[in-house]
Amino acid sequence: MRVLAIESSCDESAVAVLDEQRGLLAHELWSQVDLHRLYGGVVPELASRDHVKRLMPLVASALQVAGTSGRELDGIAYTAGPGLAGALLTGAALARALAYGWRLPALGIHHLEGHLLAPLLETPAPTFPHLALLVSGGHTMLIEARALGDYRLLGETRDDAAGEAFDKSAKLLGLPYPGGPQLAALAEFGREGVVRLPRPMLDRPGYEFSFSGLKTAVLLACRAQPLDEQRRADIARGVQDAIVDVLCTKTLQALATTGQRSLVVAGGVGANLSLRARLGAAVAARGGQVFFPRREFCTDNAAMIAMAGLLRLRAGECGGSDLAVRARWPLEELRPPRAASH
Ligand code: KG4
Ligand code: ZN
Repeated sequence: MRVLAIESSCDESAVAVLDEQRGLLAHELWSQVDLHRLYGGVVPELASRDHVKRLMPLVASALQVAGTSGRELDGIAYTAGPGLAGALLTGAALARALAYGWRLPALGIHHLEGHLLAPLLETPAPTFPHLALLVSGGHTMLIEARALGDYRLLGETRDDAAGEAFDKSAKLLGLPYPGGPQLAALAEFGREGVVRLPRPMLDRPGYEFSFSGLKTAVLLACRAQPLDEQRRADIARGVQDAIVDVLCTKTLQALATTGQRSLVVAGGVGANLSLRARLGAAVAARGGQVFFPRREFCTDNAAMIAMAGLLRLRAGECGGSDLAVRARWPLEELRPPRAASH
């Protein structure tokens, strides 16, 4: 079985070809970061227009790199939500048009299911059930993944997502958009414990997160004294340590309570090396195993959408003819393949 996948939910245009036997044959990505940098964040209309320009050439080059053609495919998977409605529509329209022309099934994939399944592109791959920490620019969730399409949300953020906290703190430190990776790089030069920021929600039971207070704490830390290079690095280190500390503590609690031994870490913040090191060591110490996607597949990509599409197609899902996309789409509404309605 061979699947072409298209991802266009936000500011990356991506296309991949995944083969059941031979693995990932191609993954192409165009990042719109330079386009949006000027505005300090993603401008939805510009994102849609750029997807329209980039997606078709990416499909052509992915097919060429994979050495395959439309006739050799078994289906097309595309991100149907959640995300920016206009951006999602560009990918959905292209996927549906290609599927119509090539007489293939087209499957609308949930973006977060894609993130959750990204570690399945690696060896060894996790099996179900497992605990998943999903940390991206829009989401911070602890999920019990019981089977494909069967996800129980244990807790999520009440306000800002972990990635958003990285990005907003980075902005306060004067770092260019998108700030997460830049803040992480600056934190390398920061000293541990010099700037200690609050660890919200750690004093409470349960798996809710809250990161919106971090902005104020960072703002105050920036004002406290002249903001030289060392001070900025110390603040960056303080931000990263606070976020990583909260994520690790809650995740370890969830592993203990659910009795799960395997942990999947997914989403853009999963690329953070400090988070990977801390979680890796802590879970190994309790005899468990952590599965990370390779770093390029933590952030948005089409390989993860292809994986979700392949698994669902293989399980008998055939997709409808619905072009609709969902800007909001709660993960718990997903169903295992055969019962899926989307
Ligand atoms: O999953 P993703 O690409 O897009 C969403 O679906 O949101 O995640 C993007 C988020 C951004 O907030 C970005 O700053 C953050 O992931 N991020 C990082 C790192 N790489 C990406 N945050 C901290 N450290 C990193 N190395
Ligand atoms: Zn994402």
